[in-house]
This record gives sequence, C-alpha cells and structure tokens, in this order.
Amino acid sequence: MPTLVSPSLLAANFLNLQADIDMINRSEADWLHLDVMDGSFVPNISFGFPVLEAVAKTCRKPLDVHYMIDKPERYIAQTARLGAMMMCVHAEATTHLHRTLQEIHQAGMKTGVALNPATPLCAVEDVLDDVDMVLLMSVNPGFGGQKFIPRTLDRARRLRQMIADRGCQTLIEVDGGVNGTTAPQLKAAGVDVLVSGSYVFAADDPIARIDELKA
Ligand code: DX5
Ligand code: ZN
Repeated sequence: MPTLVSPSLLAANFLNLQADIDMINRSEADWLHLDVMDGSFVPNISFGFPVLEAVAKTCRKPLDVHYMIDKPERYIAQTARLGAMMMCVHAEATTHLHRTLQEIHQAGMKTGVALNPATPLCAVEDVLDDVDMVLLMSVNPGFGGQKFIPRTLDRARRLRQMIADRGCQTLIEVDGGVNGTTAPQLKAAGVDVLVSGSYVFAADDPIARIDELKA
C-alpha cells in the first residue's frame, strides 16, 4: 500500500487558513490532520469546533481529527456532524475505550486510537478488531515542531506484527517529528500514514514536501 500523508493544520498560518487549505486541496495529501487540544489532557490549547466547522466547509480532503482531550466521547456526535472521516481518541483519555470505539463506528466514522510514547502497545491489543487506525505518538502530544523519539520505530515494528498476528486491517499512523529523515525509517518499519506539521508548512514549497513524504 502506498504511504498516506496527513498534513497537520497545527503548523498552518492561522491568519490565513483559507490559503493553506487551498494548498492542501491542490496537493497530493491524502487527508488533513486536525489537532484538538484542551489544556487538560495536554498542556496546550489549539482550536475547537468553530474552526473545525469552517475548515470542513472548504477542505476537500478527508478529515483526520486527533483529539488530545479528556473524555473525547463527549464529542462523537458533533464530530460526525462535521463529516469527519476519522475520529482518533487517546487510549489514556477515555475510561471505556471499547464503548467509545463502538459509538464512533455507530456514528459513521472510522476509529483511531492514539498512544502516548510511554503507553504500552498492549493498551490497544484487546480492542484491535474495532480499531481502523492506531496513532503512535512519536513526541509527547501538545506541541508541533518537537524532536522525533527514535524508540517509535521499534514500537511501529512490534505493532505491525501484532496487527498481522491478529489478521486485522488496522492502519498505523505516526505523528510528531516526521521529516525527510524519519519518514523513510517509518515506512521501513511498516507505518501506513505519516502526519507532518512543521516539515510541510514551514517549507517554501509545501506541495513538494508532501510529494517527498509520499514518494
Ligand atoms: C502534536 C500533534 C501533531 C503536530 C505534529 O501534539 O499531535 O499532529 O502537529 O507537528 P510536527 O510535525 O511539527 O512534529
Ligand atoms: Zn496530531
């Protein structure tokens, strides 16, 4: 399967999101990654539904929504109304993960489960049949532009094996510090989807950066 690329809007120009979304629409990006933070689950606060709704109106790529918030199950219906393709929740942030995943599916979205760098892979093992994508955080969530944690490569390889052993179709996404150096290493480790914020949006030619990550 070719590698999918999901640029993270967190690194876009918030004074002119229209221009950056136009660029994403023209690009070969597969999805658009949207980082929602609540100042509780993570130290930072990013954006919420007023911004997501505006983005959803103009973005033609499937929306890959990454909730870094406590009790994300409170927002399943509202996220479905946006037309989001993927609702990704942190395993550490929802007490009844299995129920949350069922509710996301019932609402018509794909399920994502994100794991912080210190969370063992077994946190997702027993719900893997209900998970369309596991998001391995390769930085501690909350901020763009952080340094990639190398241990993520081993986590990706072990998760790939776990998925194969279970015979599921679950995708692996990696988020944080993805750039021209780490992307090939991640692909070799069996990662399906690369999220990239600063490497794409800080570039003079972001469309070329997206092509480079996909190639
Ligand atoms: C971090 C977010 C990421 C972030 C990645 O908490 O989940 O999606 O935007 O940014 P870069 O690619 O700059 O590390
Ligand atoms: Zn993210």
